[in-house]
Amino acid sequence: MRKDFGIQTWLYPMPVLIIGTWNEDGTANAMNAAWGGIYDTNKISVCIDPGHKTAANLLRNEAFTVCIGEASLVTACDYLGIVSGNDTPDKLARAGVHAENSPFVHAPRLSEFGMILECRLVSFDEKTGCTVGDIVNISADQRVLDEEGKISPEKLAPICFDPVHHTYLKLGEAAGKAFSDGKKLQ
Ligand SMILES: Cc1cc2nc3c(=O)[nH]c(=O)nc-3n(C[C@H](O)[C@H](O)[C@H](O)COP(=O)(O)O)c2cc1C
Repeated sequence: MRKDFGIQTWLYPMPVLIIGTWNEDGTANAMNAAWGGIYDTNKISVCIDPGHKTAANLLRNEAFTVCIGEASLVTACDYLGIVSGNDTPDKLARAGVHAENSPFVHAPRLSEFGMILECRLVSFDEKTGCTVGDIVNISADQRVLDEEGKISPEKLAPICFDPVHHTYLKLGEAAGKAFSDGKKLQ
């Protein structure tokens, strides 16, 4: 037996992408986006409502950052998704998040986040908000690195958005080895 749910905007997993941009006055803004993912090679695509402060900022700066939402910052991540920089210009400060400029693009690195994609704007569709960026650098804080200097999913503890229950899920342990486990059936 299968149950039909009809048309839904559901997918597992949906990411928690925190999109960072500079405001006109030099302060930083950030918003939560779950409608996004890797697009082509070295590119990311995110749906950003054209009315969001983030849309105006990334168009002006032609750049944005993407911090990976993490369990230790879940309250701040959610806050950044329910309050707009259009009404609350100091929303980032209220979230307790600090910013410094990326050395690669004119967009803020949000200091508290472990993993950040730094992106140059490639295109923004004014109708749909479909935003594409070139990933020009990925940076990670020492605290999320393993002994080999790689990003550790255990230390980062990334979260996903659960569109069915409106909760945030913490990513768990490895379930298998990619490009490898399937070979058993070859
Ligand atoms: C879990 C979650 C996911 C969201 N995903 C998106 C998204 O993918 N695209 C979007 O435009 N807004 C999304 N939002 C809403 C924005 O984050 C929200 O409207 C925010 O206030 C916009 O901020 P800004 O105006 O400062 O840019 C999401 C909010 C939450 C809580």
